[in-house]
Amino acid sequence: GEDNRIARISSAIRVIPNFPKPGILFQDITTLLLDPKAFKDTIDLFVERYKDKEISVVAGIEARGFIFGPPIALAIGAKFVPMRKPKKLPGEVISEEYSLEYGTDKIEMHVGAVESGERALIIDDLIATGGTLSAAIRLLERVGVKVVECACVIELPELEGRKRLGDKPLFVLVEAA
Ligand code: PRP
Repeated sequence: GEDNRIARISSAIRVIPNFPKPGILFQDITTLLLDPKAFKDTIDLFVERYKDKEISVVAGIEARGFIFGPPIALAIGAKFVPMRKPKKLPGEVISEEYSLEYGTDKIEMHVGAVESGERALIIDDLIATGGTLSAAIRLLERVGVKVVECACVIELPELEGRKRLGDKPLFVLVEAA
């Protein structure tokens, strides 16, 4: 059943203390990718949820949204659009800033990758403060795309990133500390 699949996914995620800096418990999805059953279950759970929602765009956030997004896009018959860190995309871009604890960061998308009126799902591996996903939502909405939902493998609920998404729905498979 679904609970077995979630339990398997959860136990396939490796937790590494003090990475990338002291005090951070890093949620490492590379070990999930080493377990083909757990990796497939992860993709299947998203595909089951989104296959009949008339989604034409799966927007994946650099870097690990590029791992989970494409197999979901292929399975539901949607295009895949990478949302990248600054200065990585070669064409004309639109960008959106978001605030960090100290300073700001930015994500970018190619102009013309999506059209006004399309329906998008945004995918990433993890939501922490929600800054990245909130910028991705604004970027797509600025060009007239309807963001149906955001989906992540892992949520860190203590950081309350969900609140930063306003009333946009967020679906996650696993909650971590
Ligand atoms: C991580 C994670 C998300 C983002 C979530 O990426 O994969 O993309 O942080 O954080 P937030 O909810 O606080 O915005 P990271 O910054 O490690 O970049 P990388 O994927 O390029 O390594």
